[in-house]
Amino acid sequence: MSSENLVAVGAALVAASSSFILGQKAQNAEICKNLTNLIESDAYALFLKEKLYEVFKSCPPDETKPLNRMMKIMMYGFPGLDNIRVLSDHVLSYDRRNRVAHWVLEHLTLPCISNQTGVNRRIAIFRSDIAIPTMFRSTNQDYYRSGFDRGHLAAAANHKCDQQHMNDTFILSNIAPQVGVGFNRDAWNNLEMYTRNLLDTYPEIYICTGSMYEPKYKNSNLCVEYNFIGTSVVAVPTHFFKILLCITRDKKFILEAYAMPNQYIDNNIDLKTFRRPPEAIEKITGLQFFDKIKRSQYESINGSQVNHTEEPEETTAPDP
Ligand SMILES: *[C@@H]1O[C@H](CO)[C@@H](O)[C@H](O)[C@H]1NC(C)=O
Ligand SMILES: *[C@@H]1O[C@H](CO)[C@@H](O)[C@H](O)[C@H]1NC(C)=O
Ligand SMILES: *[C@@H]1O[C@H](CO)[C@@H](O)[C@H](O)[C@H]1NC(C)=O
Ligand SMILES: *[C@@H]1O[C@H](CO)[C@@H](O)[C@H](O)[C@H]1NC(C)=O
Repeated sequence: MSSENLVAVGAALVAASSSFILGQKAQNAEICKNLTNLIESDAYALFLKEKLYEVFKSCPPDETKPLNRMMKIMMYGFPGLDNIRVLSDHVLSYDRRNRVAHWVLEHLTLPCISNQTGVNRRIAIFRSDIAIPTMFRSTNQDYYRSGFDRGHLAAAANHKCDQQHMNDTFILSNIAPQVGVGFNRDAWNNLEMYTRNLLDTYPEIYICTGSMYEPKYKNSNLCVEYNFIGTSVVAVPTHFFKILLCITRDKKFILEAYAMPNQYIDNNIDLKTFRRPPEAIEKITGLQFFDKIKRSQYESINGSQVNHTEEPEETTAPDP
């Protein structure tokens, strides 16, 4: 969590506690409004929502109010809390050390993948994310003649409802160095198209896409090896993952988890080859996907039916 966010949450707490002590009704109403505004506009306050409402018992949440875009995208949980950026149609967490996003979350419905009049990817331009401090920011220059594509994490074609949504996917915090031929332009693109085609079956899909640095054995030692490009030293992830949470018409949950190596992949290889247990990707990335849903609550994971008769197990083993 960034310090500004902590200050915002802290200020709300201080303001609230002092006025509750004074017992001023009008001021309490204003605090409740401020609390709602904070939760709706600040990702970190949203993450703390339950705790904040627990503290401010006299400010109950309005359950009838429709969720704004950020709240909708994040409703099944935050995979991690590092440097969160809220854009017009996606939310991401930025890895300052590697200058690439840890994860990007999207929420897909059919209208926004169809070609809307006026929304055009050709007028969108790649540009640095000025909200990231210069020291940690990637630039177009880093990618120039690097041999890697500027690969989208949130795919541009998923955001056709509004030109701004499309434009925002071209901000470099949503971009990572990807092998072009055989990956970005082929296998990875196939996975993105496969995801959009799932909207023929499911009315809503939540997508978490991100970068991964996978340890490998080298001389019987596990190690992570990866390259960097450009003067900003932008990491080339060894893999990219994509976790799909599909919501069925009768509100059941389906999960699919993929991790693909950032290399040439034969176009004929079945995408199912790249499925992995979601826990395996969580272990490598340190992230937790859609953690507001217990794994036992899923209808299926990676195409296998989830057994609902057994007692749900704890996901983390207690310390010995
Ligand atoms: C509510 O927020 C406004 C705008 O930030 C601020 O001026 C006001 O002091 C806040 N009210 C309370 C009671 O904290
Ligand atoms: C939508 O269609 C128009 C006309 O065919 C095309 O110029 C434009 O690039 C398309 N937009 C997107 C976002 O694919
Ligand atoms: C999208 O980006 C283009 C190129 O920078 C710009 O001309 C256009 O105004 C932007 N549109 C929106 C809605 O942000
Ligand atoms: C998909 O995930 C399930 C549940 O973790 C796992 O049992 C299965 O092995 C995974 N499929 C593949 C192909 O890795």
